[in-house]
Amino acid sequence: MIELKDVSITYGAATRSAVSNVSLSVAAGERVGIVGESGSGKSTLTSAILRSLPKGARVDGRIVYDGRDLATIQESEFRALRSVGIARIPQDPLASLNPVIRVGNQLRDVLRAHRKVSRTECVELIEQALGEVGIPEPHLKRKAFPHELSGGMRQRVLIAMSLINEPRLLIADEPTTALDVTVQAQIIDLLQRELDSREMSLLLITHDIGVVVELCTRIIVMRHGRVVEEGLTAEIMANPQHPYTRELFAAAERQPARASRKAEDS
Ligand SMILES: Nc1ncnc2c1ncn2[C@@H]1O[C@H](COP(=O)(O)OP(=O)(O)OP(=O)(O)O)[C@@H](O)[C@H]1O
Ligand SMILES: [Mg+2]
Repeated sequence: MIELKDVSITYGAATRSAVSNVSLSVAAGERVGIVGESGSGKSTLTSAILRSLPKGARVDGRIVYDGRDLATIQESEFRALRSVGIARIPQDPLASLNPVIRVGNQLRDVLRAHRKVSRTECVELIEQALGEVGIPEPHLKRKAFPHELSGGMRQRVLIAMSLINEPRLLIADEPTTALDVTVQAQIIDLLQRELDSREMSLLLITHDIGVVVELCTRIIVMRHGRVVEEGLTAEIMANPQHPYTRELFAAAERQPARASRKAEDS
């Protein structure tokens, strides 16, 4: 589905690359998690895939989606490919929604950019999408402005927006970081359900290894812009090789919220 070959990314005047020689792939239907501390280059990687790096950033190596080199295709072709193929749940919900447009209308714009739908059908699809992500009273909430919703609801609106065109690849950049643990758990369950109910690949970015363990079949560990460890989730959990990976697991164990969730599960 998507393959990165020896990708290095350098921002404008920076002397060090934000990402160095990263190779990774996500197959159709596969769920891959990238973990790594703040500043390890995770968001930079997703921006490179989505061609949304700031001007002056240099990308070396190849990023191939469905056999096509994303660096070489035209902007129009990329946009078409994006609207049907690749969706992103961005890291910052508030900054990613337009504050002066009702959320339902923002969903409508995303929907209409991709297919022709009648007014009534549009309203139905939007209310359905909001309902699916667990927003109560979608017929009312679709008329709300972003600031009239809670943080968890805004994040759900963004998830609804990213799923409404049934993408083949979902890139989720810290979809739960800004949320409190109970909402976090709801969002993870929601993503789990969505992944189970449709054939979709996932590239999940987070610094929280616990979230990856719950959602992903494969883990990639990044540090200082490089991949330091990679493998099946179960294998890495059973036998983490890199000291940094072991640290991540140890830190997750110390989190009381997650530990108590685990206790509830067992
Ligand atoms: N727009 C930018 N201009 C210049 N440097 C940037 C820019 N965005 C990120 N960087 C740098 O690139 C490196 C990687 O940042 P990135 O945002 O990819 O990290 P991250 O792994 O997503 O971190 P976090 O977990 O905090 O989201 C950092 O050193 C950061 O300072
Ligand atoms: Mg980031």
